[in-house]
Formats: sequence, C-alpha cells, structure tokens
Amino acid sequence: MTHIILVSGAGKGIGRAIALAFSRAGKLNPDFDPLLVLCSRSQADLDSIAVECQAEGAATDTFACDLGDMEDVRKLASFVLERHGTIDCLVNNAGVGRFGPFAEMTEEDFDYTMATNLKGTFFLTQALFPVMEEKRSGHIFFITSVAAEKAFLHSSVYCMSKFGQRGLVETMRLYARPCNVRITDVRPGAVYTPMWGEVTDDLKTVMMMPEDIAEPIVQAYLQPGRTTVEEIVLRPTGGDLQDG
Ligand SMILES: NC(=O)c1ccc[n+]([C@@H]2O[C@H](COP(=O)([O-])OP(=O)(O)OC[C@H]3O[C@@H](n4cnc5c(N)ncnc54)[C@H](OP(=O)(O)O)[C@@H]3O)[C@@H](O)[C@H]2O)c1
Repeated sequence: MTHIILVSGAGKGIGRAIALAFSRAGKLNPDFDPLLVLCSRSQADLDSIAVECQAEGAATDTFACDLGDMEDVRKLASFVLERHGTIDCLVNNAGVGRFGPFAEMTEEDFDYTMATNLKGTFFLTQALFPVMEEKRSGHIFFITSVAAEKAFLHSSVYCMSKFGQRGLVETMRLYARPCNVRITDVRPGAVYTPMWGEVTDDLKTVMMMPEDIAEPIVQAYLQPGRTTVEEIVLRPTGGDLQDG
C-alpha cells in the first residue's frame, strides 16, 4: 500500500535521515510502499536526497518552499493534496536555531525563528490535519527537542519556540485521539547536523547521529494503527551537552 509521507526540512540533517529511513523500510517491507514528499528551501538539497531515496526504491516528489512564508505553506499543502489526493504521514521537522547570549538576540532572530518553528509548523499542520481527521487515519510527528522541556543557556529564542511547539503537540492530541490520528512528539538531544555549524571532533563524539533519530520514527510509524508511540525522547548516552 502506498503511504504519502511529507517530510519538512528533508534536505539536511535529521529530516534527510528520516527520508532515507522511510525509503529503506520500504525496501525491507513488501507491505510498505512510501511515497516521500520532500520539502526544504534548497532545491539542490532536495534533488540530492531524492536520488538517494529513489536508489532505495522509494518514489519521491520535491517541493522547494520557505515554511516561514504562509503563502508557501499553503502552496505546499495544495501540492500534496492535488497531486496525491491524501496524506498519511506529516513529519514536522523543518526548524531553525539562532543561539547566543540573551542580551544579544535581535528582533530579526526572534521573527526568523518563530516564523519557521512556530508559525510554519502550526499552519502546515492546520492545512493537512483535516484530511486525516476526515479519513480517520494518519500520523503526525513533531520534531521538537529536549529544549521543549528544559532550558539551555544561549538558547532563549530557540527554547521558547520549542516549548511553544510542545503546546501545539499537546493540543493536537486532543483533536487527534477521537479521530484515530496518531501524534508523536520526538524530543532529541544534541544531534550532529548542519544546524550546529562547525563542531570539534571532541564534541562530535558525544553527539547522536541523525540516523539514531530517524530509525525510531520509522518504527513508531510502522506500529499497528491501534498503537501510538506518543513520545520519543533520545539523548546522548553521556547526557545533554550542557550537563557535562
Ligand atoms: N540537531 C540537533 O541537535 C537537534 C536536536 C533537537 C531537535 N532538533 C530539531 O530537529 C529539526 C531538524 O534539525 P537539524 O539539526 O536536522 O537541522 P538542519 O541540519 O539545519 O536541517 C534543517 C532542515 O530544515 C530545512 N528548513 C529550515 N528552515 C526551513 C524553512 N523555513 N522552510 C523549509 N525548510 C526549512 C533546512 O533546509 P533549507 O535551509 O534549505 O531550507 C534543512 O533541510 C529541527 O526542528 C530542530 O530544531 C535538532
């Protein structure tokens, strides 16, 4: 059976690993035929991940757009529904981080972060949830963070956006449970991705890798429809970096 799966922020990091993990699962499981709709701002990244997913046997569509722009959010939702008529899985992964001392965060840092992490996530979910509600099936993953439950220094705006996403996740559960839609909050600790910029080799050794996050997401999706993995919390074995 074909599963229409939209992965936002699929061009790099965790989203890229999620797209690949779904593709590999399709190769291993004859009953699971993923069609991945891959979105990010960079078309070049999307072209590259699409080739990798296709090499694993998955069908792909790409849609370059800025989820911080509400017109783009509407266009993405319309693209998915006009092309495929439905959606089975939405992975709200696209996110940005601006980090620095509280006193130095600018209005532009604030608006840039909230536009993608909060506004984009909210309105993409709002555009696609009704389809799942009506057919009484579907699965929405939110890649929030351990920063959605715990504060970190130099992360004021990012933590605020992630705590805010958690508010949306918990509210969506109230709408989703009565119509048989599954909601999973994925809260990773530090993962080695381009979001971190340059990191030292020492730091890299105490971080998780994107595939460590992607595999449990695919396993959660492949659970029987009667079962929802509501939360996935993954941390480096040595704990959060600022604990050290
Ligand atoms: N890395 C970590 O340690 C970590 C830990 C916990 C949670 N997370 C969360 O996991 C998610 C993925 O993070 P990551 O580390 O994989 O980040 P990343 O390496 O920077 O990748 C983010 C992806 O999202 C896309 N993206 C960002 N803003 C977008 C927008 N406005 N519209 C469309 N696409 C957009 C980026 O592509 P373009 O720039 O081309 O648009 C990229 O493909 C984020 O929500 C992040 O907050 C990360």
